Order: sequence, then C-alpha cells, then structure tokens
Amino acid sequence: MRHEQVVIQRGERSGLAVIVAVHSTRLGPAIGGCRIKQYPDWRDGLADALRLSEAMTSKCALASLPHGGGKTVVALPPGVTAGRDVLLDVGDVIAGLGGRYSTGPDVGTGPDDMVTIGERTPYVFCRPAEAGGSGDSSEHTAVGVIAALRALCGDLSAKSFAVLGLGRVGGHVWRMLTDAGATVIASDVDDRKRRGTWVSPEECLTAEVDVLVPAALGGLLTPATVPRLRCAAIAGPANNQLDDPATADLLHARGVLWAPDSIVSAGGIIHATAVELRHETSARAAERVRGIGATLSGILRAAAEHGTTPYAEAREHVERVLAAA
Ligand code: PHE
Repeated sequence: MRHEQVVIQRGERSGLAVIVAVHSTRLGPAIGGCRIKQYPDWRDGLADALRLSEAMTSKCALASLPHGGGKTVVALPPGVTAGRDVLLDVGDVIAGLGGRYSTGPDVGTGPDDMVTIGERTPYVFCRPAEAGGSGDSSEHTAVGVIAALRALCGDLSAKSFAVLGLGRVGGHVWRMLTDAGATVIASDVDDRKRRGTWVSPEECLTAEVDVLVPAALGGLLTPATVPRLRCAAIAGPANNQLDDPATADLLHARGVLWAPDSIVSAGGIIHATAVELRHETSARAAERVRGIGATLSGILRAAAEHGTTPYAEAREHVERVLAAA
C-alpha cells in the first residue's frame, strides 16, 4: 500500500460512498480537490481517488509546496446528481481527518460547494471571496497552463493549439490562447460549449497542431491513442493524462514532447495556498503560478540532457524531494 490512509465511509445523509485518499503527508498536510461525478461503481471512484491523490503528491513536490497529496471522490450512481446532502457528508469525513487533509474544487465541484463542505470542516480551500476564500481556482490553473505553453513554445501567436475539453479550466485556456493571438481549435463532449473553430473530440485528439492541450478527464494517452497523434507536443491541465507510466516511453519514441500534467496543472493549488495559507497578495500568488514555466523548462532540459523522458525526470525529482523531507 503506497497511501498513508484511505477512508471510505457511507454518507449519513446521502447513503453514497465518500472516499478520501491521503497519499502522503511527508511534505506537509495533504491537499487535493473533491471530485463528484458518475462512475459505473463506487469502486471505480476508489481507483480514481488512489491515482489522483498520488498525483497530488507529485504536483505539490514539483511546485515546491509544503504539502502532500490527497483527493476526495464521491461516485454518483447513474442519474443521481450531487446535492447538499452529499457535500455535508464529504465535510464530515474531512472533519474526521483533523487537518491531515484539506479539500478544494475539482471536477463536479466549485467555490459554492466549498462553502457547504465548509459548514462541517474548516479544511477547505477556494470558497468565494465573500465567504473568506480565494475563490474559483480554475482561472489560476489556466494561467499556469499558459505559462507552461510559453515555456514550451515561446511566442504563442505563432503557434497552433488543440484544446480538448472546454470545462472551467479549458474554457479559460481557450480564451487566453485566443487573446494571445494563437491559432486554436477546440472540442468538448458537450456540444453546448461550442465556440471558435470547433471539431469533434476525435479530430481534436489527432489534429496536426503544435500543441495538444488535454483539459478534460484523464487517461487520454494510451497505447491506442498515441500512434494516432499528429501534434508536436502535449501540455494541458487534465490530471493523470497517461493511462500508464509506460505510455511516456511511447510518446518519446514517437517524438511527441509531453509536459507532465503534475507540473502544468498546479496553478490552482499554488494560488490557493499562497493566498489562503501564506496571506500573499493575488499578484504575488500569480507570480508563483507563472513559475510553472521555469519548473517545466528545468524538467524538459534535464530530460534532454539525460536522454530520458519528462515523465522520468519529474518522477525522479519528486522522489528526491520526498527522500530529503
Ligand atoms: N483540483 C485541484 C487540482 O487538481 C485541486 C485544488 C485546487 C486544491 C485548488 C486546492 C486548491 O490541483
């Protein structure tokens, strides 16, 4: 077992399984968002929580944050939507961890939901500013993605991007790229999000562009999809883009430069912790978020020097940081 603690508790109000995985508190109290979405079975939600919490440990270590990784998952059965009952149940489970783990927004939750969870526990990030929090993190995550893309490409106006997923983070990334004068195509499984040059998810995945920007759910890069890619590089905010570590080698062999999502997606947590824990100004926090560019450059440089993959370099960096703690 690689995780320090995994709590699976049936919610008193909702009857649903509330899963909180604390992967590591070696660098400090664990942080990770609360994901509430449909899964075929709550056990699939558990598998996701285990993977996502481990990724949060890497994310914190790579961003030099004094925090570990955790994640909350509530698996909704088909046709069930999350209400106040689910959020209060989540709050109770987090309260039971006594500060070892704090939550924040993720797929299926936003700042207002953090207020509801916050009725049961103070260990909550990203409540709206009126409620004393640092607000929606998705724009800050997008700022970090743009910093990563600049590190990768230089001037964005000269490059083309395929944004896959126009949710809260992807939508901001699309707008920032468009504002920067970049050539952008986009796609989402939800056609109501349609904007700009719109393609199907399949066309987006296989588009001949400079950078593919995965901004939907994870597991996009697999032995089945990698051979069909026609992008030069991949960098986006989706968590856990690789189905398996070995897929990093497939990308490398294909000459596709992959920027680890654990680096690219850290803007939200960097901003929230800077503002809420260290009481920094939003401007100073934004500067830290833009530091993602330098972090990514360092990892890509090391990979090129050592003839390894960015995945291997990032992983080694995380191991070094954890071993030194
Ligand atoms: N969903 C965020 C992530 O995956 C988690 C988060 C954001 C946690 C902001 C706290 C604050 O990184």
